[in-house]
Amino acid sequence: MVHRLSPIGVFDSGYGGLTVLKELRKRLPHYDYLYLGDNARTPYGTRSFRVVYEYTLQSVRFLFEQGCHLVVIACNTASAKALRNIQQLDLPHMAPERRVLGVIRPCVEKVAEVTRNGKVGVLGTPGTVASLSYPIELEKWSEGKVVSTVQEACPLWVPLVENYELNSPGTDYFVEKNITALLEKDPEIDTVVLGCTHYPLLMPVIRKFMPPNIRLINQGEVVAEKLEDYLHRHPEIRANISTGGGMRYLTTENSDLFESKAGLFLDEIIKAETVVLK
Ligand code: DGL
Repeated sequence: MVHRLSPIGVFDSGYGGLTVLKELRKRLPHYDYLYLGDNARTPYGTRSFRVVYEYTLQSVRFLFEQGCHLVVIACNTASAKALRNIQQLDLPHMAPERRVLGVIRPCVEKVAEVTRNGKVGVLGTPGTVASLSYPIELEKWSEGKVVSTVQEACPLWVPLVENYELNSPGTDYFVEKNITALLEKDPEIDTVVLGCTHYPLLMPVIRKFMPPNIRLINQGEVVAEKLEDYLHRHPEIRANISTGGGMRYLTTENSDLFESKAGLFLDEIIKAETVVLK
């Protein structure tokens, strides 16, 4: 039994991780959660490896200090550029009994389960695409089920979402442009990973331009499904998470702004607190 509050930490560079949090709370409502958005330094998608690693490590350390034993990095860019280093270099001396998980590996496992012809597409931020994390992880963990991966960077999709442009001719233009470019790279892909936490908000537009036979991997749902399975297999980690369905939102930027923009990602009114990361 846990006496101190030990929520599941959910970290993102800003708001996008809220789409993952939403699915986690839907599937695993009994746990406590602590969300941290590094809105003061967002976006991460265009930053270097070193900077994303530094910022993500600071955020993970902060969430550990808040009592989290398990942190989900609900950001593709941070998962791509920082997770492996944190798991291999930092955790062993920082907190060997705690866990930091990302969003890429669960999606890779899901792709391997659903692809029929092994031809996969990935849409993501320039940072995630340039890191080659998806192609590398798909090759490594799909047990030979993925034979080829093509990627397309969508640099404008995050700003479009954050500026409430979910349904406009401009959004249609950029979504169609990037999907067309992806399909030109390999017209036979049968599965596409929406490799950025903001993209579920563009789902109706994406569906409009994506051929209907292509299966879309919606990260939030997949991460929630895989986390449930992970916690089932790891009772020692599960035992360290406090329950009660509690929820707190932290941001490194202005909390009023966070509260109003979060409404775009969540269907509820929330209260947020501003924190400073050191
Ligand atoms: N949340 C980030 C991701 O999933 C996108 C936003 C950013 O570039 O910081 O890649």
